[in-house]
Amino acid sequence: MQKQISFIEVIKKTIEEGDVVLPVFNSAAMKVQQELVKKEPDMRVLENAIATDQSLSSLVLQMANSSFYSGLVEVLSVRAAIVRLGIREVGRISLFVISKNQFRSEDKRLNFVMRKLWQHSVGCALGVNWLTKRCKLDDMESHAFFAGLLHDVGKLLVLMVVEQLRKKDPELPVTDALLMEAMESLHTKQGYYLMKLWNMPELYCVVTRDHHKDDYDNTNDMLILVRIANMMCNKVGIGLRKDPTLMVSALEEAHHFNLTEIDLAEMEIFLEDTTILTR
Ligand SMILES: [Fe+2]
Ligand SMILES: [Fe+2]
Repeated sequence: MQKQISFIEVIKKTIEEGDVVLPVFNSAAMKVQQELVKKEPDMRVLENAIATDQSLSSLVLQMANSSFYSGLVEVLSVRAAIVRLGIREVGRISLFVISKNQFRSEDKRLNFVMRKLWQHSVGCALGVNWLTKRCKLDDMESHAFFAGLLHDVGKLLVLMVVEQLRKKDPELPVTDALLMEAMESLHTKQGYYLMKLWNMPELYCVVTRDHHKDDYDNTNDMLILVRIANMMCNKVGIGLRKDPTLMVSALEEAHHFNLTEIDLAEMEIFLEDTTILTR
């Protein structure tokens, strides 16, 4: 127990003392998101943000052509993808691709955990998107999606700190249990700190901070959407946890949007299908 506390304290102290290289938020992602939240996003802005980066555009096309978005004809350009899938869908795909680059480590074990974390973030964002459609919350669609994608960014921060600590001291003992414990106990507070540092609008920061809080703001629809999507991902096993016994339909959050067992069963199937995208 003592060991756990000290390991977590070391991570916390390292972040608080600024003794670490923090992840930066990708400027292309910011450009895409700023366009997506507009009432009428401009196709040219999105196309430019993607097409000027060769590797980004090829990865976006790869994802747009995956069986999840299955079309009869393969799309060969960003513009064709936008025409077929729509501006918002392509915007979402590009945010997935951009975020993936952050979830990488030279350390094999950390890389595995980061990959799982990325899968969870994408699953959660798509889950939130599914919910906004089901609950007819069209106005929040793009904001809520983004909040879902970033809700666990504090875990990424913890993993990056561990990576840097291990580079300094390769003998540093880090068990899987310690890693999980550190992420669980630090990610909401440290994630909030990171989001603030990135100058993210408060509505996203609050979701990062409060998505596990018992005494949460039960009037904050966006927070509630992310809490539901997060739990559904944990139920299906998208990410680091799998708990099929989770009864999401019994939760206050599901009641808030009058989600029935059938709604949630449909959402579960949808989430299982999304895993094609992140394999
Ligand atoms: Fe979380
Ligand atoms: Fe989560």
